[in-house]
Amino acid sequence: MAHDSFQTVESQLNWNAPMYKLYEKAKKNGKWNPTEIDFTQDRIDYQTMTEDEKITALPLVASFSAGEEAVTLDLLPMVHALANQGRLEDTMFLTTFMYDEAKHTEMFSRWQHTIGIGEMDLSSFHSDSYKRIFYEALPESMNRLMTDDSPEAVIRAATVYNMVVEGMLAETGYHSFRQIFQKAKLLPGILQGIDYLNQDEGRHLQFGIYTIQRLIVGNEKNQRVFNNYMDELWPDAYGVIDYLTSLYELQKAQDWINSTLELDTDAMRSYVTKQFEIRKHQVNRANKYSSAAELVKSEDVKQ
Ligand SMILES: [Fe+2]
Ligand SMILES: [Fe+2]
Repeated sequence: MAHDSFQTVESQLNWNAPMYKLYEKAKKNGKWNPTEIDFTQDRIDYQTMTEDEKITALPLVASFSAGEEAVTLDLLPMVHALANQGRLEDTMFLTTFMYDEAKHTEMFSRWQHTIGIGEMDLSSFHSDSYKRIFYEALPESMNRLMTDDSPEAVIRAATVYNMVVEGMLAETGYHSFRQIFQKAKLLPGILQGIDYLNQDEGRHLQFGIYTIQRLIVGNEKNQRVFNNYMDELWPDAYGVIDYLTSLYELQKAQDWINSTLELDTDAMRSYVTKQFEIRKHQVNRANKYSSAAELVKSEDVKQ
């Protein structure tokens, strides 16, 4: 598409745009380097873990690695759509977003390599629900943005990518992984990496919330697109977590289990349910405003 004008020639960047402020935050807080995380102790820990303990950890690892790879590969159409709309500050923020996801993918692959499971095929740990979200819904909704940048297409893409994959599944997965391994005092390197990664994800979520909110302000039809798609994805989002918790429960049901790891499966199921409610509530708060301009000035868009 030809350009008919340039924002920074006719005036300047909008320094107060929410996504410009998020871009500034990303430059300041997103400086960590996966290469600098020391996984030496993780390697020792993993090698001394029992087979049963490894079987608790690996399905989570399989979910994280593929999840980070999927969001790295599938983000480009969002950049393409918002850049085409001339949303300069959003596009600038998204350059940091893609870089963050690349580092997340690198971190897990580097960790798997270092602890000695780099060549292990973990794909059998992906459940049908996982496949429906990560192999199908996510790339389909994102790729639609290459040819359709309508509010409906943008809302659906941000709903599956930011609200479900990042806001529900990643949040629940990382939260549970932390609980298990912090308590067991194992794998300090990857736990540190997950702390960095969580900070990045906080910014990604803000992008998603803002992007959906600005499109549903004062527009009931668009709001329904968001709420309906959340409801449509919910059974599989829950299914992803339910599968992981069920695997562990099955393992625990064997009384020969040789493991010191503890996963609170009920807490994990209620955590994902709570994330679903929180994400819906956060986005639907846009109801209070009558225009996107009013939303931008509000407390709901974190400054
Ligand atoms: Fe990520
Ligand atoms: Fe992310």
